[in-house]
Amino acid sequence: MANILLGVSGSIAAYRACDVARELMRQGHRVQVVMTRAATRLISPDTFAALTGNPVTVDVFDEPVAGEIAHIKLAQVSDLVLIAPATAHTIARLTLGLADDMLTTLALATRAPILIAPAMNPTMWSHPATQAHVQTLRARGVEFIDPTYGVMACGDEGWGKIADTPVIVQAVQQRLCRAHDLQGVHVLITAGPTYEPIDPVRFIGNRSSGKMGYALAEAALAHGARVTLITGPTALTPPAGAEVVPVRTALQMYEAVQERFDACDVFIAAAAVADYRPERALRRKHKRTEGDWTIRLVPNPDILASVATRKGQRIVVGFAAETDKALQHAAQKLKRKNLDLIAVNDVLEAGSGFEVDTNRLTLLYADGRVEELPQMSKRACAERVIEAVVERLTPARGE
Ligand SMILES: Cc1cc2nc3c(=O)[nH]c(=O)nc-3n(C[C@H](O)[C@H](O)[C@H](O)COP(=O)(O)O)c2cc1C
Repeated sequence: MANILLGVSGSIAAYRACDVARELMRQGHRVQVVMTRAATRLISPDTFAALTGNPVTVDVFDEPVAGEIAHIKLAQVSDLVLIAPATAHTIARLTLGLADDMLTTLALATRAPILIAPAMNPTMWSHPATQAHVQTLRARGVEFIDPTYGVMACGDEGWGKIADTPVIVQAVQQRLCRAHDLQGVHVLITAGPTYEPIDPVRFIGNRSSGKMGYALAEAALAHGARVTLITGPTALTPPAGAEVVPVRTALQMYEAVQERFDACDVFIAAAAVADYRPERALRRKHKRTEGDWTIRLVPNPDILASVATRKGQRIVVGFAAETDKALQHAAQKLKRKNLDLIAVNDVLEAGSGFEVDTNRLTLLYADGRVEELPQMSKRACAERVIEAVVERLTPARGE
């Protein structure tokens, strides 16, 4: 049984939320409804209060329990937020992070997964503004239950009709299952670049932003895992709930992994670790001189290869950023480093690899299977990698 917060916004399909609420309750969940002001024009809050047995709130100043700040309380106790139907306006507000009513305020304040079932006129749904908002929210990990094709209340025909109730309820069930499938599993992730010092002001770095590794941490947390994120220098805010170990150099990352590897169940090496470092980091800044300056580079230890020999029952996932013969190189790395899975991308391809928010990954499995993913947000790519980990862990855990 889960606490489901059902957000109802001002769509003509608001009445459909009654069916959704009833079906969720029939499956044993506790449903709490929050409505937008527009929704209350289309269906009475009393209907939902009677159906669910819980007071319905609209305004952020509504306080059903005296002295309790309702939007924070609701945000914290909810296991999942489902917005069905979601209007174009509410989707836009969520994208911008506006907090002008109870629903949008608690959506900002919650750490629970958010599922959205849009409902609107086909022209509104296909509008570039709406589609851009959907893409932004998807990249943040919000899940959409896509609208279907049909004839609208206004008579228009096209995509925009709210999904059928069983489809919505099934999406909720699947999301709730996923929220626990890594419960008790410790996932160790490396992310970002490493900086190899030349002197006190200069370093050799690389163009990794850390976005892929942070997205993996977010996805693993969403599946209920305990997450340790060993991160090189990035401009990103680590996901709430992860234990964060900041490092700068490849040697520091190597040490951090060695210390924590034995205690983990899954190791995902998404960091772009420098293969070489300057032999010596100068103690003082190197001054400009007339002649050349030669820096001698020595190899860094190979983190993935170093743990491969004591892998045991652990699932180990590698990443390969390649510029040529990507699949061939990745397949060799998979074998050589005893990995369960390697995610490879060609960093020269547009929308793939460093700095951007999207990636186009191909997953190579130890059993020889190859899975080509379309270009997706890094968060969506991360979701697929974590699902692949879950699939591999399940037989190992004897479930
Ligand atoms: C009868 C009626 C039906 C509507 N149906 C929809 C709809 O299905 N989808 C939508 O995005 N907007 C719909 N709207 C417009 C929204 O109610 C309007 O944009 C409102 O500002 C949404 O506010 P909210 O997102 O806070 O609920 C409808 C308006 C009316 C009057």
